[in-house]
Amino acid sequence: MNGRADRNDAREGAMAAFSLSAAAIALAVIAACIIAGAYIMPPSSLKTGDTGDTMAGIRNSSVTLPAPRTSGTIPVEQALAARRSVREYADSPLDIAGLSQLLWAAQGITGTGGLRTAPSAGALYPLEIYAVCGNVTGLSPGVYRYIPDSHALEPVIGRDVRDDLYLAALQQAPVRDAPAVIVIAADYDRTTCKYGERGIRYVHMEAGHASENIYLQAYALRLGTVTIGAFDDNGVRSVLGLPQNQTPLYLMPVGKAGTRYVRA
Ligand SMILES: Cc1cc2nc3c(=O)[nH]c(=O)nc-3n(C[C@H](O)[C@H](O)[C@H](O)COP(=O)(O)O)c2cc1C
Repeated sequence: MNGRADRNDAREGAMAAFSLSAAAIALAVIAACIIAGAYIMPPSSLKTGDTGDTMAGIRNSSVTLPAPRTSGTIPVEQALAARRSVREYADSPLDIAGLSQLLWAAQGITGTGGLRTAPSAGALYPLEIYAVCGNVTGLSPGVYRYIPDSHALEPVIGRDVRDDLYLAALQQAPVRDAPAVIVIAADYDRTTCKYGERGIRYVHMEAGHASENIYLQAYALRLGTVTIGAFDDNGVRSVLGLPQNQTPLYLMPVGKAGTRYVRA
C-alpha cells in the first residue's frame, strides 16, 4: 500500500511540476509574442505593413483616391489673374479629396492612350509625382507615389518625413509647415532616349506645366501653394527614397492659406 501511495505521490508531483512548467512556457511564449509584436506590428497610424522605412513589401497596398472633378466654380481666367505663391498655411488638415484633385491636375489621365492634364514631348511622360503627407484627412502620414493610370497612391515610406524634407530644402518653412508637399521628380531617360540632349529641356518644361496646373487647381480649391526649386537634390532623393534614376525638380507645399494671406 505504502509503495503504491509513494508512486502516486511521485506521479502527482511530477504532473504538478509538468503543469507548472507548461504554464511557465506558455506564459513565456505569450510574453515573447507580445514583445515581438510591438516591434513587428506596424504603428496604428499606418494602413500597410510598413515599419517606417522604405519597403518593397508595402508597395502592394495602393490607396485608391477619390475620383477627380472636371468642373468647378472658379473660371480659369480668375485663377490665372489671382494666383499667388503662398508660403504660410493654416494649422488645419488637407483633405484627401483636395490632394486627389491636385495630383490629378499635375499628371492625371484625361485622354485615350494615357494622355494627361499636362502636355508631354512625344507623350513620353518623364514626370513622377510624390505626395509627402503629414496632416491629410483620410491618409496615414508618409510618402506616396502617384499612379496616374489608376488614380491611386502607392505607399513608399510609412512615416511623416516633412522635418527631414525641410532640412533638405534649405530650411524653407513651407516644407515643414504645410499639411502636405507635392514633389515633382523626373526620369530624364524616358525623354532623352528619343530626343537626346534636347530632351533635358523638354523635361524641365514639363515640370513647369505640372507645377502651374497645381497652382491653378490649388487656387480653385481655395488652397495655397508655392513652387520650390532651391533644395539639395541628393538630400531630397534620400529623404523620399527616390530611385537613382529620378531627379527631384520641384517641391510644392500645399494647404489652406494662413491668416496673413489675403486672397484676391
Ligand atoms: C523655378 C522656380 C523656382 C522657385 N524656387 C522657389 C524657392 O525655392 N522658394 C520659394 O519660396 N519660392 C520659389 N519660387 C517661387 C517664386 O519666388 C515666385 O513665383 C515669385 O516670387 C513670384 O511670385 P508669385 O508666384 O506669387 O507670382 C520659385 C519659382 C520658380 C519659377
